[in-house]
Amino acid sequence: MKKLLYISVNTKPEHMSTSKTVGREFVNRFLVKNPDYILLENDICNEYIPELHYKYYKDRAELVSGEDYDKLSTEEQQAVDRIKELSDQFVSADAYVIAAPMWSAFFPARLITYIDCVIQKDRVLKINDKEVKGLLDDKKRTAVYIQSSGGIFPKILSGKINHGTNYLEDIFKFIGIKDFHKLMVAGTGKDKLGIEGAEEKAFEEMDKIVEKMSN
Ligand SMILES: Cc1cc2nc3c(=O)[nH]c(=O)nc-3n(C[C@H](O)[C@H](O)[C@H](O)COP(=O)(O)O)c2cc1C
Repeated sequence: MKKLLYISVNTKPEHMSTSKTVGREFVNRFLVKNPDYILLENDICNEYIPELHYKYYKDRAELVSGEDYDKLSTEEQQAVDRIKELSDQFVSADAYVIAAPMWSAFFPARLITYIDCVIQKDRVLKINDKEVKGLLDDKKRTAVYIQSSGGIFPKILSGKINHGTNYLEDIFKFIGIKDFHKLMVAGTGKDKLGIEGAEEKAFEEMDKIVEKMSN
């Protein structure tokens, strides 16, 4: 079975969150269209995502092992184990759905903490004197970033304002996931559109992206 990894980025329960509501609908439609996938989920604002600490590393992006690992406290070992688990799970996936709100023209900081956990040497990146290269172009992988936002940003302003979306596209492509899609749930704070209107527009647009991400 292939794996769909759903990463949601919000402390809110699903029924209160636009990004999570649209994210769930996307996941459901994707799984109907792709029954050969199983679902893995990380609700990263409500789960243990370790903050990186220098003691966990022996080198750039390389986690401690052996004697250095044994010297860590139980809590620190749990953090290292969890980082490995998150990274391995990410590498094992074939499709990715990330759903987050725009916060201060970016996304909530927890998503960066998660990405820092995932990007590990020899799992996600090859790092040597000559190059730093993504390893996730080893098989067909596809991703969509679903972002809810109070405002609506025309394409011309996107480069200046939509930093979370632009960054995520760049980092996914850098690690080797070139097939990257975006679903904007924009204008939840606008009187005319509101949350329901913005969600409805996203529901209408999502089948096209599901289709593109399907086999
Ligand atoms: C801390 C914070 C920062 C925000 N920053 C922005 C912003 O920079 N631009 C914007 O358009 N909306 C911003 N918003 C509004 C949210 O993106 C919007 O309400 C979104 O629909 C929330 O999605 P959710 O229901 O999944 O949390 C912000 C909201 C919060 C709580």
